[in-house]
Amino acid sequence: MTIDIEWLGHSCFVLYGNDTILIDPFLTDNPVAAKRPDELECDIVAVTHGHGDHLGDAVSIAKRTGATLVGIHEVTQYAAQEGVETLEGMNIGGTISVKNSTFTMVPAWHSSGIGASGFHFDGGTPAGYVIDCKSGMTVYHAGDTGIFSDMKLIAELYEPTVACLPIGSRYTMGPREAALATQWLKVDHVIPMHYNTFDLIAQEPEEFCKRVADHCGDDTAVIVLEPGARTTID
Ligand code: NI
Ligand code: MN
Repeated sequence: MTIDIEWLGHSCFVLYGNDTILIDPFLTDNPVAAKRPDELECDIVAVTHGHGDHLGDAVSIAKRTGATLVGIHEVTQYAAQEGVETLEGMNIGGTISVKNSTFTMVPAWHSSGIGASGFHFDGGTPAGYVIDCKSGMTVYHAGDTGIFSDMKLIAELYEPTVACLPIGSRYTMGPREAALATQWLKVDHVIPMHYNTFDLIAQEPEEFCKRVADHCGDDTAVIVLEPGARTTID
């Protein structure tokens, strides 16, 4: 009943369960990135959506390491076109086993186009993941999303123990929405993400802590990490 989680800044985490799972590896051009993409080894790379601050270095890391890239159908089509050979495409509502872990794809209210400067590839719809790490821990990574009340359904169906939620506002939930989401998700631990990478998503994580305490009392612990920090949750 334990898992190590490392935050590399923005929405990028490494889960050290039965597999080493890298989520949303935005490292190149990320001003707070705690590692370089060529420093990372992993078994699985999971991508929540096509935006550059999430798809990030996923293609190059998957090609170099041979890690399996997990994504929504359109994102894996794009990765295949870019030369990634080990892929697991899926879509909202589905559950798949990848190596020694289980991934369920859940909705996210956001957008997902791939590309910039005139290049555009249809990234499908954005998503979140519920990842059963098979170590007694189930992690919900929300991706980029506004709040939606079907987060209650995620709690009922999948009973995540840890949630990674965006608090930066502007593009996603802010602290107010993420604190209510935490209450609905009934998780033991919540980790804020997608803030203070850029000035446009500046936030005080202390405000999120206070709001979670108001909603959840002692039921949920907020884990505020610095980019590069690794913590053991049990
Ligand atoms: Ni996005
Ligand atoms: Mn984003």
